[in-house]
Amino acid sequence: MEKLKQKILNDGRVLSENVLKVDSFLNHQVDPFLMKEIGDEFANRFKNQVITKVLTLESSGIAPALMTALALGVPLIFARKKNSLTLQNQDVVTAEVFSYTKQETNTIAVSKKFVNANDKVLIIDDFLANGEASLGLIRLIEQTGAEVIGVGIVIEKSFQIGREKLENAGYHVESLARILSLKNQQIQFVTEEVL
Ligand code: G4P
Ligand code: NA
Ligand code: NA
Repeated sequence: MEKLKQKILNDGRVLSENVLKVDSFLNHQVDPFLMKEIGDEFANRFKNQVITKVLTLESSGIAPALMTALALGVPLIFARKKNSLTLQNQDVVTAEVFSYTKQETNTIAVSKKFVNANDKVLIIDDFLANGEASLGLIRLIEQTGAEVIGVGIVIEKSFQIGREKLENAGYHVESLARILSLKNQQIQFVTEEVL
């Protein structure tokens, strides 16, 4: 997605060889116009599939996931990271997600009220690094008996192992920007073949 790549080049900051800061449009301040286009693009990339719900993980996945849900005309569900007050006393499915970036494990949860065996779920997230968040969301969906249609990622760090893990597990991944390298303070994208 050309507009997203331009935004990353113009506004992104390389914090290290592994971390890209995009807090001016995605992770802190959010650009609603860009999010709208991101939602439309995901809806277009998955247009041949039946999707009944969009699922993300709080908090930074919510903006792009909401716009995708709007474009598809289906509800958005965001998995919660901590035992929230509103999740108490509900029947939930949970999964453990280990973050290499943060070196911590979070329990994530979704109420069974909102995902059931008839659902066909599209997962959306802001970043794909090692794939642990997406795999955790997949484990949640599978406990409900619903089907995972695919995974849509705003920014994929292609030099990390997430995409490979998801594809090896049989899941369809669509990323709107694929970063090949952040070495030497340079943002390099994967070259996509233009057909
Ligand atoms: P993984 O799910 O692919 O294995 O990634 P990892 O655990 O390493 O990522 C942990 C958190 O860091 C996630 O946010 C993820 O979106 C974010 N992250 C990973 N790499 C980058 C990066 O290069 N730049 C930025 N800006 N974020 C990155 P989170 O903890 O869920 O936080 P939230 O922002 O959703 O609240
Ligand atoms: Na994040
Ligand atoms: Na995230």
